Amino acid sequence: MSILSSEWTALLYLAAAVCFILALKGLSSPRTARRGNLIGAAGALIAVVTVFLSVKLENIPLILVAIAVGSAIATPIARRVQMTQMPQLVALFNGVGGGAAALVAVLELGHNTDPWFRLAVVFTMLIGAVSFAGSAVTVAKLQELITTRPVVFPGMRWIMSLAVIAVLVAGGFVIATGSAGWAIALLVLGLIAGLLLVLPVGGADVPIVISLLNAFTGLAVAASGLVLGNVLLVVAGTLVGASGTILTRAMASAMGRGVSGIMFGAFRGGSTAGSTVQSDRPVRSSSAEDVAVLLGYAQRVVIVPGYGLAVAQGQHTIAELATALEARGIGVDFAIHPVAGRMPGHMNVLLAEANVPYESLKEMAEVNPEFKNTDVTLVVGANDVVNPAAKTSPGSPIYGMPILEVGHSNQVVFLKRSMRPGFAGIENELLFDPKTTLLFGDAKDSLGKVLGAVKAL
Ligand code: TAP
Repeated sequence: MSILSSEWTALLYLAAAVCFILALKGLSSPRTARRGNLIGAAGALIAVVTVFLSVKLENIPLILVAIAVGSAIATPIARRVQMTQMPQLVALFNGVGGGAAALVAVLELGHNTDPWFRLAVVFTMLIGAVSFAGSAVTVAKLQELITTRPVVFPGMRWIMSLAVIAVLVAGGFVIATGSAGWAIALLVLGLIAGLLLVLPVGGADVPIVISLLNAFTGLAVAASGLVLGNVLLVVAGTLVGASGTILTRAMASAMGRGVSGIMFGAFRGGSTAGSTVQSDRPVRSSSAEDVAVLLGYAQRVVIVPGYGLAVAQGQHTIAELATALEARGIGVDFAIHPVAGRMPGHMNVLLAEANVPYESLKEMAEVNPEFKNTDVTLVVGANDVVNPAAKTSPGSPIYGMPILEVGHSNQVVFLKRSMRPGFAGIENELLFDPKTTLLFGDAKDSLGKVLGAVKAL
């Protein structure tokens, strides 16, 4: 028996949809992101409770068991995950969402013979299966369970073309006959297509594909809303699809690449390869005390945080160092590259955790003209986002990516552990520049030593 009238159901769905929109608005700034997240979760809770109170559900105990098992698995994973593993977690949850949409569509197939309904079923199954298999590959790549390099084999393009034809044939049969056998075949083909689509993507491009697959899942969920006749699923899926598409384009343009170059670059030899070449050319390395002198007697310092700062969990120490320098009357800013780290806003979240004031965070366009007036730029665990090869080496996989132009400052200090390259796997000429000094070691340890030495000046 349904407890809620259709008017109340519509009103509650509207409230949930408004929550989702406010959540997206909140997530657009680190200042409001936490609140946005909670509003989104509240919207999801309203939606689920409304379904329970408005639809005549069968198998309620089974549904409750499924919710309990899902929550018991997901909650500890989400609590324990390291911030640097967040892209994998997002990919995992996103893939499961796509898979769920595909399974719901298979089960609904027999409920209606209308060809438009069957078309929505086919779309949901296909996109959901692609998203599930593709996301599984991205998780395996980012967890380094398989190689992070692009996987391409001879004849792959032909197999891809055959898979597309087979998908069209199977989809056509499902629409024409509603046959469960063809539906299963379509599901399997969707999984194969997902694998073939993501295997050739490698290195620094994987997080962008995660965002693209997120948009796919949104579309699959929106189509499942048509299948189930549930308007809230259509709204929520469309929001995810649209925001995922916008994010994918923003990330691709921050890396100076097109989305098609990212997906099919490996076939043209243009994908980031994630090599681990290590240079043995001589560099100038220095002690923490020397770095402290450089920083402590500067007038203006810019700090460039990168992925290594997140790995080392050095955010609190870097915040303390900035405060100690400011106490000496030195102007300190943080320069934030849009794709520093491994996920959008990674550095903003990291520094917000250490209460670095938002006013100290400068975006790339704002800070780049200021490097020429900067005495020392301290690059902490960043590499690709300051690599001049992006401007000077047309053959380089990061060519065209806008970078933080730290080479214009008077002195550059890199904090890193070794001469290994960044995520894109290419050497950074700036490390060998006469104005560059390297302090080798884990970023948190090095920052702690530099901080101690600055305080002792
Ligand atoms: P990277 O270029 O990956 O460089 C990270 C540096 O940190 C490396 O040089 C590494 O050198 C160092 N490092 C690692 N662990 C460290 C530790 N514990 N202590 C000190 N140093 C450590 O990072 P980035 O400059 O932030 O660039 C981000 C990359 O990810 C770009 O290629 C970007 O295109 C890609 N990407 C980002 C995103 C988003 S949205 N953020 C999305 C897609 C791709 P050692 O190993 O020698 O220490």
